[in-house]
Amino acid sequence: MRLLNLQTLTAILAVLSFTKAEDNAIASPDSAVVKLTSETFQGFIKENPLVLAEFFAPWCGHCKKLGPEFSSAADALATKDIKLAQIDCTEERDLCNSFGIKGYPTLKVFRGANEPAEYQGQRQSDSIVSYMTKLSLPAVSVIENSSDLLDSISELTSPMILQVLPPGATGSDANSTFYEVANALRNDFFFVSTSNDEYVKKYATDSKKPTYVVFRADEQLDDASVSNFDTFDKTHLVDFIDVESKPLFGEITGATFQSYMAANIPLAYYFWNTEAERDAVAPIITPLAKKYRGEINFVGLEAPKFGMHAKNINMEETFPLFAIHDIAGNLKYGISQDKDLDNSLIAKFVSDYAAGSLEPIVKSEEIPEVQDEAVYHLVGYEHEAIVKSGKDVLVEYYAPWCGHCKRLAPTYEELAAIYQNDTIGKEKVVVAKLDHTANDVSNLDITGYPTLFLYPGDGSEKILYEGQRSLEALADFIKEKGTYGIDALEIRDAAAAAAAVTEEVAEEAAAPVEHDEL
Ligand SMILES: *[C@@H]1O[C@H](CO)[C@@H](O)[C@H](O)[C@H]1NC(C)=O
Ligand SMILES: *[C@@H]1O[C@H](CO)[C@@H](O)[C@H](O)[C@H]1NC(C)=O
Ligand SMILES: *[C@@H]1O[C@H](CO)[C@@H](O)[C@H](O)[C@H]1NC(C)=O
Repeated sequence: MRLLNLQTLTAILAVLSFTKAEDNAIASPDSAVVKLTSETFQGFIKENPLVLAEFFAPWCGHCKKLGPEFSSAADALATKDIKLAQIDCTEERDLCNSFGIKGYPTLKVFRGANEPAEYQGQRQSDSIVSYMTKLSLPAVSVIENSSDLLDSISELTSPMILQVLPPGATGSDANSTFYEVANALRNDFFFVSTSNDEYVKKYATDSKKPTYVVFRADEQLDDASVSNFDTFDKTHLVDFIDVESKPLFGEITGATFQSYMAANIPLAYYFWNTEAERDAVAPIITPLAKKYRGEINFVGLEAPKFGMHAKNINMEETFPLFAIHDIAGNLKYGISQDKDLDNSLIAKFVSDYAAGSLEPIVKSEEIPEVQDEAVYHLVGYEHEAIVKSGKDVLVEYYAPWCGHCKRLAPTYEELAAIYQNDTIGKEKVVVAKLDHTANDVSNLDITGYPTLFLYPGDGSEKILYEGQRSLEALADFIKEKGTYGIDALEIRDAAAAAAAVTEEVAEEAAAPVEHDEL
């Protein structure tokens, strides 16, 4: 009983400390905060170049806490061209829905007609002021003084993208592309432009065009990456920034994993147990990362936290380990885990990989000794051979836990049996299944189970099956898209007709016997 009271008290205290009595979610009418409605919203966004909009509900605790901070920030920013606005979502449902507001408060930054960006700062008045002030500055800082440039580079907390603009390149298209990209990516990078002599001499490769240099935080000046574009456009600049801004020997975490996957170039992993292990391997990995920049990304991975990821790249959970995942082809390579990892093997392993002389580690079930079912039990080791066997091969990629796969099974078996039952069908068509959780298949994009592909016998490109999961539809697909036009339904009907005839004959043959019995 006492315990319960104590808990109740704690809960009450928590609520009390959370919102003070005077906190109000709705900004005071005396403050600089502008109340917007569906009638006024568009006009206001159009007229004001930079607006921080708060979508809120008057009853919400976090909104009450934010209220006074928001008002005070609005007042502090009133003299600048930065406006703070509130939209009460209990009154303006449609407006809030049109921005996909799911929680209160949601803060969005509007710059004219552009897509709004999420506000990513803190919710105290001074944080709001400094965040919005920074946004109001140009996306690109123009710095001409070389000692100022050097200072900026030494103080980097995020990668810096420097445009070196030779005097002869003034007003080039590249410059406006650079500004456009800077506006889009300003939250992640620091963009600087210079025409400083020293930098032009050092980096500019063409006196008519800008050169771009990426400085990564915590790295030597000479490690900066210098652009060398064959063709220059927005996509190439964004790709260049994306590839070059990654640290030479970065770290895989929940936050960075997606960006490494999206880079879509091979990813080399070093799984480490201790910081000391990671530090010891860094002098080996960093030069490799420099050499293969843009071709292979190199990362560390903290095994005690994320070690089970080893399974995904076909390695044992024994650390440290070194492995390379060719993301595009989904092929996996690793230094043998028979012995403890010897770091001195890494450089040779990477160069062998780059030379294409390594065999991938294929995850596969053993090849079955006998195929005793109509559906062919396909495994990783045999996949390439079977799909290129010259027959029309339909493969179902499934997972044992998948319900849709289980529902398809009887139909699929029936289909397979029809071809198996026919001399020509058996010769020309294979109906196979592969457990995709136990077998690796390269160059295959599978996003759900079951996924079915037909590999035509003439070796032409595989075809995804997107039809109904019925016997008739599957049979038609093989007939239409396969090389041999084998028609399972025709085989089935012919077999049924033949069976009927056989039965009649048998009945006739049996009849006299029955008579005899009578
Ligand atoms: C560059 O800046 C430094 C420090 O701010 C200053 O001492 C120096 O005179 C400046 N150089 C030029 C060329 O403006
Ligand atoms: C580069 O483009 C920006 C934005 O359009 C412009 O303000 C700036 O003057 C240009 N710089 C040069 C040197 O042309
Ligand atoms: C296979 O053919 C025989 C006769 O030819 C028939 O009795 C049987 O039903 C057929 N099986 C299938 C699965 O079509």
